[in-house]
Amino acid sequence: MPTPTEYLKHTSVIIVTGGSSGIGCSIIKAIKNLAPTSTVCNLSRSKPGDFFDQHGIHIATDLSDSKAVAAAAAQLKIIIAEAEAGEVLLINNSGFGDYGRQQDLDRAKQLQMIDLNVRAVVDLTSQLLPQMLERGGCVVNVASTAGFQPTAYLATYGATKAFVLNWTLALGEDLRGTKVRTLAVCPGPTRSNFFKSAGFETPPMQQGTSLTPDMTSEQVADLTLQALAAGKSLLVTGWKNKLIAFFGSKFPIIVVTRVGAAILRKMRLEAHKGDSK
Ligand SMILES: NC(=O)c1ccc[n+]([C@@H]2O[C@H](COP(=O)([O-])OP(=O)(O)OC[C@H]3O[C@@H](n4cnc5c(N)ncnc54)[C@H](OP(=O)(O)O)[C@@H]3O)[C@@H](O)[C@H]2O)c1
Repeated sequence: MPTPTEYLKHTSVIIVTGGSSGIGCSIIKAIKNLAPTSTVCNLSRSKPGDFFDQHGIHIATDLSDSKAVAAAAAQLKIIIAEAEAGEVLLINNSGFGDYGRQQDLDRAKQLQMIDLNVRAVVDLTSQLLPQMLERGGCVVNVASTAGFQPTAYLATYGATKAFVLNWTLALGEDLRGTKVRTLAVCPGPTRSNFFKSAGFETPPMQQGTSLTPDMTSEQVADLTLQALAAGKSLLVTGWKNKLIAFFGSKFPIIVVTRVGAAILRKMRLEAHKGDSK
């Protein structure tokens, strides 16, 4: 089984979305550490830190805007065409959530989330697949353990991640026999800007017991690169998340929905604490 360093030697273009913070930033740092001379392209609105300037190409892109995705894809196609021989690694990681009851949430923000978490993933992957099929490579899509069951208070977010999870696994089968494979990454609660930007009053890891999953973005990045090198098609990060996903699959979906809602209700925003249950 190759190590992540050995795996990365075969890639000539690495594309990461959402490398400006959290999991995406940790993935880029881990890649830079293992393969210092690799060319990494980052797509997000803001730039990753100064560390990225050497051998990094930042393509400032709002991936919730379909025209911006098309423009970025056109730029990436040229970069891939001009790159030396080698595989293409595409890591679709950008995403955000929005916590609250659906009827209280901003409609435009929900639609923007679908555009970013779902539409951009399908669009960017589809646009780059022809070149990836020629060169070989892997499409890594960051889903979530939220994708394994309905997630009240994160209804749209969880549904986008269920889409990403199922789409990635199915795409992997469509691509069987070609030089391209897929990896669906399902992190559980991970320390990053995610919970703040999603409007959580209390992130799960600050509320739960020692059994509550709690990982750093560096741990998720390392596990992702290990799973990639090992040729896995699905990664659920850490044993606690694996256990939750396993037991969740053993109960009727209605029960899992109600239990999940009871857990997520506790993390409601201060502003909504007086609202009726
Ligand atoms: N943290 C968790 O507990 C957790 C658990 C499961 C799954 N995930 C998933 O992991 C992925 C990374 O999240 P994170 O935890 O690292 O959160 P994060 O620290 O908030 O990072 C989100 C990244 O997405 C980018 N992004 C947001 N809106 C964008 C837009 N319109 N266009 C382009 N890029 C955009 C951000 O860059 P800019 O703001 O610069 O554009 C940022 O780099 C997401 O898909 C998330 O759903 C996170």
